[in-house]
Amino acid sequence: MNTSVIKVSEELTPEDNSLLDHAAGVIRAGGLVAFPTETVYGLGANGMDPRACAKIYEAKGRPSDNPLILHISDMSQLHDLAAELNAHGKTLAAGFWPGPLTLVTGRTNRVPDIVSGGLDTVAVRMPSSSIARALINKSGVPIAAPSANVSGRPSSTRAEHVAADLSGKIDMIVDGGSSVLGLESTIVDVSGEVPCLLRPGTITLDDIESAVGRIEIDPAVNAEALSGSRPKAPGMAYVHYAPQAELVIVAGELGRSRKQIFELVRARRENAEFSSSPTNIAIVTTDENIEYYQNMPVQLFSLGKRSHPAEIAANLYDVLRALDQAEITHAFSEGFDETGVGLSIMNRLKKAAGYRVVRV
Ligand code: TXA
Ligand code: MG
Repeated sequence: MNTSVIKVSEELTPEDNSLLDHAAGVIRAGGLVAFPTETVYGLGANGMDPRACAKIYEAKGRPSDNPLILHISDMSQLHDLAAELNAHGKTLAAGFWPGPLTLVTGRTNRVPDIVSGGLDTVAVRMPSSSIARALINKSGVPIAAPSANVSGRPSSTRAEHVAADLSGKIDMIVDGGSSVLGLESTIVDVSGEVPCLLRPGTITLDDIESAVGRIEIDPAVNAEALSGSRPKAPGMAYVHYAPQAELVIVAGELGRSRKQIFELVRARRENAEFSSSPTNIAIVTTDENIEYYQNMPVQLFSLGKRSHPAEIAANLYDVLRALDQAEITHAFSEGFDETGVGLSIMNRLKKAAGYRVVRV
């Protein structure tokens, strides 16, 4: 399949609009279109068309029990898909839509089984990206879209990431530049009486609790390793976001972390002398710390300014993918405080590391 790429800007010029008309035609015809949102790129199909949705699973190599998020551009589309939101659901939708929040709620029987993965709930999000909203509007249907990456790989925050994973397997990529936020949406289950955080994102736990009071947190959000308990968001159970390198996170006070990273690199290099396969070591650091590692015989990658967690979030997947590009075999990353957006950054980083965390 030939994957066409169209370049569109958030300003939505008349040319952008006519390009998006074309993309909407592909969605309506049952094709696959990757498109930008404010969180990460999505791999979109007509969410009311089970055959089109089946193509999403095939292109991504996604397990069929992992349900999809339906993207809407207007509240009027919700009634077709979901039972009436409860009071908490309404408060969260009013406070955070359009934006990086997904709500899980009771579904109607109009939602195809393949979308909800056999569950009696459905995940819905109204994105704020004007490109995403225009595409949904023009398509005239809710767009089912998981992140636009091969299953298990880091999510895509640039059209180039999408092309690297999915070129030849999908009809079209809408290139809207870099994702502003860089982490997938916060998912809150409002199907029960007390809302439950299923996946943290850039809308933080504090943001949600300021709106609706104390909520539950699914154990999968903080898990060091998923043992026994099944996460309520099926996708949280899979190894995810993983670079090819063996990644280890060194978490704790920064001075001690740096010393520990020096030690781990030294040990790894010693090991490499006895190994026949190539060893290519990287340190994943931050702008504030990069100079400390300057003389080490490793490749350095900065996630941005530690003092700006939003910047770290926006760069995370790009750096994880850059490790693969540089053919890194072993990477050691600094950790982050698990508060605010830091909770979401560490949630993704720990999964990428297969929960290899050294605490100092
Ligand atoms: O920011 C985002 O949410 C991006 C953009 C494209 O909107 N999408 C995204 O989709 O991250 P995906 O498929 O990569 O992650 C969706 C997560 C999965 O973990 C899935 O298991 C969960 O949402 N999910 C979907 N429907 C659900 C449901 N009914 N109940 C619980 N979890 C659900
Ligand atoms: Mg995903």
